[in-house]
Amino acid sequence: MKGILLAGGRGTRLLPTTLAVSKQLLPVNDKPLVYFPMSVLMLAGIRDILVISTPEDLPQIRRLLGDGSQLGLRIGYAGQPEPNGIAEAFILGAEHIGDDGVALILGDNVFHGYDFQGVLREACHDVDGCVLFGYPVSDPHRYGIAETGRDGRLLSLEEKPAVPKSHQAVVGLYLYDNDVVDIAKNLVPSARGELEITDVNLDYLKRGKARLVNLGRGFAWLDAGTPESLLQASQYVQLLEQRQGVRIACLEEIALRMGYIDAEACHRLGVALEKSAYGQYVISVAEQFAEQGRQS
Ligand code: TTP
Repeated sequence: MKGILLAGGRGTRLLPTTLAVSKQLLPVNDKPLVYFPMSVLMLAGIRDILVISTPEDLPQIRRLLGDGSQLGLRIGYAGQPEPNGIAEAFILGAEHIGDDGVALILGDNVFHGYDFQGVLREACHDVDGCVLFGYPVSDPHRYGIAETGRDGRLLSLEEKPAVPKSHQAVVGLYLYDNDVVDIAKNLVPSARGELEITDVNLDYLKRGKARLVNLGRGFAWLDAGTPESLLQASQYVQLLEQRQGVRIACLEEIALRMGYIDAEACHRLGVALEKSAYGQYVISVAEQFAEQGRQS
């Protein structure tokens, strides 16, 4: 399965901060926001990833993530000149997707929860149609809201409904089979001139090929698109990292634990950042990992 990380957009709700810098490069506590969605693709076992952003922001994002080889990944880049909608990712990324299925994640979505790796592994296995992820929210009229049957089959999907059929919001992580490319190519732009991801999902729903995995209340999902939610994401990450002494979305650690890189490579990455607590953490993870390897 291929990955697409969509990190463009205008970030108008974060103006003036986003006048000169991409939302996805803003810090969430100790690391750039884009590390969080990148970590999700990595945990899902996806190593071939296309990052899409605005032509202005791509050089900085590329400076941060490079070609991915340092993390055992292959990262490519594509520009989205105008924010023509989330579903345009499948048109811009058609060549990257090739004959495979694809996981699309939004660049401003932060996920954290117990055994997310297991949830992802199961959901990504043999995707036939589309797999969406749902999260309970208190204010459903602000989100895309899904209604599901007991088996997780999607029954209805409504964008910002006045009378919501559930409290289950569809989050910014979507898994599709290869049909998504043709579906996206045949989409008609919405009234606001965008290729809507909801229309892609409704197409799958019509075919009876859409299901939803409920992430449940023990999970954290934040989209860091406003000053408040960006701060909340920082506070959440800071609290957990300080209490537990572990770091969320540390890409070097994930690459090591997933077997994408070895302890020596991880250590080198840490040394390059050693003046920061983040870098020190990467070094200590690499040392612990190497020590465990020696003992076993
Ligand atoms: P949004 O938060 O809907 O849009 P935005 O990032 O431009 O912010 P604002 O609403 O404040 O103007 O986008 C969600 C994510 O999807 C975000 O990471 C940007 C990305 N995106 C694109 O890359 N291209 C697009 O055409 C759209 C609509 C979103």
